[in-house]
Amino acid sequence: MKRVPTVVFSEWAESGRDVPMAKGHERAVANMLKFALKGRSNYSFIDAGCGNGWVVRKVKTLPGCVTAIGLDGAPKMIEKATDIDPEGTYLKVDLESWTPQKKVDIVLSMEVIYYLNDPKSFINNVCQNWLNENGRLIVGLDFYKENPSSHSWPEDCGISLMQLFNEDEWVSFFNYAGFKCVQHWRVDAINDWGGTLILTGVK
Ligand SMILES: C[S@@+](CC[C@H](N)C(=O)[O-])C[C@H]1O[C@@H](n2cnc3c(N)ncnc32)[C@H](O)[C@@H]1O
Repeated sequence: MKRVPTVVFSEWAESGRDVPMAKGHERAVANMLKFALKGRSNYSFIDAGCGNGWVVRKVKTLPGCVTAIGLDGAPKMIEKATDIDPEGTYLKVDLESWTPQKKVDIVLSMEVIYYLNDPKSFINNVCQNWLNENGRLIVGLDFYKENPSSHSWPEDCGISLMQLFNEDEWVSFFNYAGFKCVQHWRVDAINDWGGTLILTGVK
């Protein structure tokens, strides 16, 4: 029986599967951070769908970062993040209904937004309500139409909500939201693996 993403990922946190997952995302996230943080100082940062909080802990140590917040809907992911870093800010929220009290400069999201009911609305909400002027959203996705090696994941992982869009559709969601300078590229494509699709835009 398939279950909703946050239930499955809470179990992954309990069983320790969050750690190899983070390891597998490291290279793509390094690429995203290098691009998104270039030339930035005094920036505030949100990791939307932070898992065990590894990206927040990394960004917090960078000299230009003023605040870094991690958000996730899986209770055990947030519990784990808070256990590892009790001083950090990790909030258990549903990304589709949450809005920050104070807007931020960078929103990063690695391997998350195809688990949402309405990724297009989420991208629009981030642009309108999460980001400061000149703020940037950057997302990484391994599950997309042009990467057939990923298409069996809903069955393999028993997850009920995984939305398959193609690259042009993802780009259109950024354009619809009003993002400027929309760019996309792939990281670590090899043989049958299409690579991590990175999409980004500036408010
Ligand atoms: C594939 S994991 C990636 C975690 C982390 N970004 C990483 O790279 O290790 C996807 C994460 O998105 C979270 N997630 C999925 N749907 C969510 C929602 N509606 N609200 C909040 N978090 C959600 C899951 O709980 C899970 O931790």
